Amino acid sequence: MTILVTGGAGFIGSNFVLDWVAETGEAVVNLDKLTYAGNPANLASLEGSPLHVFVRADIGDSDTVAKLLRKYNIRAVVNFAAESHVDRSIHGPGEFIQTNVVGTFRLLDEARSYWGELPHDKQRDFRFLHVSTDEVYGSLKPLDPAFKETNPYEPNSPYSASKAASDHLVRAWHHTYGLPVLTTNCSNNYGPYHFPEKLIPLCILNALNDKPLPIYGDGQQVRDWLYVKDHCAAIRRVLEAGEVGETYNVGGWNEKANLEVVNAICSILDELKPRRDGKPYAAQITFVTDRPGHDRRYAIDASKLERELGWKPSETFETGIRKTVQWYLDNTEWVSTVTSGEYRKWIDTNYGSR
Ligand code: NAD
Ligand code: TYD
Repeated sequence: MTILVTGGAGFIGSNFVLDWVAETGEAVVNLDKLTYAGNPANLASLEGSPLHVFVRADIGDSDTVAKLLRKYNIRAVVNFAAESHVDRSIHGPGEFIQTNVVGTFRLLDEARSYWGELPHDKQRDFRFLHVSTDEVYGSLKPLDPAFKETNPYEPNSPYSASKAASDHLVRAWHHTYGLPVLTTNCSNNYGPYHFPEKLIPLCILNALNDKPLPIYGDGQQVRDWLYVKDHCAAIRRVLEAGEVGETYNVGGWNEKANLEVVNAICSILDELKPRRDGKPYAAQITFVTDRPGHDRRYAIDASKLERELGWKPSETFETGIRKTVQWYLDNTEWVSTVTSGEYRKWIDTNYGSR
């Protein structure tokens, strides 16, 4: 038995692949384009493992996807591959449409044609799990209830609009063609291997490098933070027992304003690695111009997933953020190859001619 994971060299995908192999012992074919966000070093501990096959390719490369599905008798596809950073989507939305919309369409359609050829029992058991975001639901007011699966889609950024479009395609491929799909909509993740363009790793590394900690606007925007390993466990559970055609919201019940998050990081660093001048890291906090169209609040109601499939997060924000800060302090080699861009040279050398 083998599953196909796309985007498995990125932040959540690589955590998922590592946990999947450790928890299930089932083989993974990992298809990733290795954009700036994909880093094979995340998967270094799987080098030489017969349970992990890495293929550098685009989810929109229909021929490669078609071949891999058949060659490895894939029983499930878990689609993480995406352009994922809101700020980048504001500056250059084209790649977001290409990968998140067109790429997902091509991947879905190849999965459909492969699935159509399977014998009845394998068709029944096949799954296409699409990993999506809470950002498709838009922005909440301070007292609004958290997002449920029944909330209307109201995406506000090019990123969330492209993810919303991909969710709709996944839904349609189930309703029209019967493809056995599952969709998860998760809140903001944090943890190991998080690329330092996103708030939490950016602030940890900027703090340690004596750089400003940039807070957009008034820093009172709220996100619902989930430790990445909890997200991975939720995806495994949905893949195992989710009802075909259903969507599941995944969240940590950890709503925090950005300023609160950055202050929490600063306090942990004050304790674990105090600044040489004795000042608190919070002195590096700097308010900068707000993100255009910045969503004010996201919050996930994850009660359906708990009620129906028995999943709930095992980390609180306090335990998860401490582990995360410690991980960045302990993994200086990973940090230096990522921040220096050294990993890009490695990718060019290894994959440039293929
Ligand atoms: P990421 O940017 O860290 O990783 C994305 C990965 O996809 C990279 O390895 C990249 O090389 C790969 N990729 C990009 N375009 C590709 C293409 N055309 N073909 C093949 N591979 C391609 O993203 P992430 O934070 O790990 O997010 C993974 C998924 O989870 C995304 O679909 C995202 O929308 C979703 N999600 C993320 C969060 C979060 O907080 N990070 C929360 C909810 C949902
Ligand atoms: P981010 O990590 O980019 O995730 P998302 O936009 O998908 O929620 O940002 C998290 C929050 O932090 C968001 O409200 C924007 C804010 N933010 C800053 O204040 N400063 C920064 O430098 C970044 C990258 C984000």
